Parts: sequence; C-alpha cells; structure tokens
Amino acid sequence: MTKEYLENQLSGLALADGLARVAAIFPGKVAFSSSMGQEDQLIADVIYRKKIPIRVFTLDTGRLFNETYELIERTHARYKQKIEVFFPEASDVEEYIKNKGVNGFYESVENRKTCCSIRKVKPLARALKNMQVWITGLRSDQSANRKEMELIEVDEQFHLFKYNPLIHWSYQQIVDYLHEWNVPYNPLHDNGFISIGCQPCTRAISNGEDHRAGRWWWEVSKKECGLHNSNN
Ligand code: ADX
Ligand code: SF4
Repeated sequence: MTKEYLENQLSGLALADGLARVAAIFPGKVAFSSSMGQEDQLIADVIYRKKIPIRVFTLDTGRLFNETYELIERTHARYKQKIEVFFPEASDVEEYIKNKGVNGFYESVENRKTCCSIRKVKPLARALKNMQVWITGLRSDQSANRKEMELIEVDEQFHLFKYNPLIHWSYQQIVDYLHEWNVPYNPLHDNGFISIGCQPCTRAISNGEDHRAGRWWWEVSKKECGLHNSNN
C-alpha cells in the first residue's frame, strides 16, 4: 500500500466517511491518539457516535491538568466507550527524577525533551505497536511548523501511515462543531488555553499570540515534543 493510494481513498471525504473508510481498509489496525484537546474530542465524538471500529487511546504523562483527567471521566460517562490510557514506565520516571529533578524540564531543552520522550514518546510507541495507521488531531494552522503537514504522511519514527483528517480545518470550524454537537471539552479552553499539554509546561495565551505559544513557553525553539518528529 502506498501513500498515494491512501490519499486517493481518503481525500475529499467527509470526516465520518474518511474514518470509516480507513477502518475498513485496515481492520483492527487503526488507532487514534487523543490528547483530550478540542480537535481530538471532535474526532472521538465521530468515532464514538458512529461506532467506527478504531481504537482510541490517550497518553497520561502523570503531569496532566486535573481538568484533563476530569474530561477523561466525563467523556467516558457520555459515550460509554473505551479510551485506553497509556502510562510511562515507572523506572524511567524514577531515574529521570533522580538525575534531573521532578521539574528538571525547565532547566534545558535537552532535559525537557528527555521528559517528553519518557512520558509521551515511549508510551506512544507502545500504544502504536502492531498498528498500521495512526490518526491525530493535527491542524496545519496550529503553528508555523505544522503548515507543511499533510492529510496522509508516512511516519518514519513509528513505521506506519499517519492520517490527519482535520489538517485543513480551521479553529473556528472545530469550535462550531463542538457547540453544535454539545461535545464535552476541557473548560481550560474557555480561559485562554487553546493548546493544552502537561500542566507544568502549558500556560494561557493572550489575544493575537500563536495558538501554541503557551506550550513550553520558556523555550524559544520549535514547540514540538517529539511525537510528530518526522515533520520537525
Ligand atoms: S504535542 O505534540 O505538542 O503534544 P498537540 O498537543 O498539539 O501535540 O496535539 C497534536 C496531536 O498529537 C493530538 O491531536 C493527538 O493526536 C496527539 N497527542 C498530543 N498529546 C497527546 C497525548 N497526551 N495523548 C495522546 N495523543 C496526544
Ligand atoms: Fe514532561 Fe513537560 Fe513534556 Fe509533559 S510536556 S512530558 S511534563 S517536559
């Protein structure tokens, strides 16, 4: 199977049709990673309401906002469907804390990337094991370095196809959908947190700031954590 074939199959389809088709092409081999952010809640709403056979999982870094944990519970209560939760290896976290300190990520980009690697990338690799397609909620206008991302990508890091069905959606389209369908979302979004990651590494943004400016706000470099590496 080639990227071009998959693009032909999925381009121009409505979201629900695209998700259903990819699930039909790769039965049992499609997984959707949800950060519980607004884009991801939209995709989850379609998967759950239409009962599309796609695995849904989230990476619990151990450092999420309490609002995010509450949203996991509320989402489960609403749809009564499974969301798998992947956690980092205890020994990796213990070693990191011993060597770098509990909040060592503020001290250098290297320390920060190591923390993201332990708490996100390694558990993601576990979650994606034996999968052939990884669905994300990435949008190209989230930041300058997401502009080049495409609907279908070949992910060299995890050796599978990456399907970004919201890649060309605008922020306003997402917000409108959530309201129209009364989808549960993180209340932090209404308080200036557009992009939400771990609590110690996310702040609210002001009007006019880049949507991802609140992520690792103390760093000046590209604000990516290693999940979406092939596009960095
Ligand atoms: S991040 O790489 O900087 O953290 P961002 O928060 O913008 O990414 O989310 C982009 C996409 O990455 C999400 O739509 C989701 O598919 C995936 N993602 C990010 N964080 C998580 C998480 N904690 N659990 C599962 N998927 C995640
Ligand atoms: Fe660690 Fe911060 Fe990365 Fe979360 S976002 S994994 S706390 S460095």
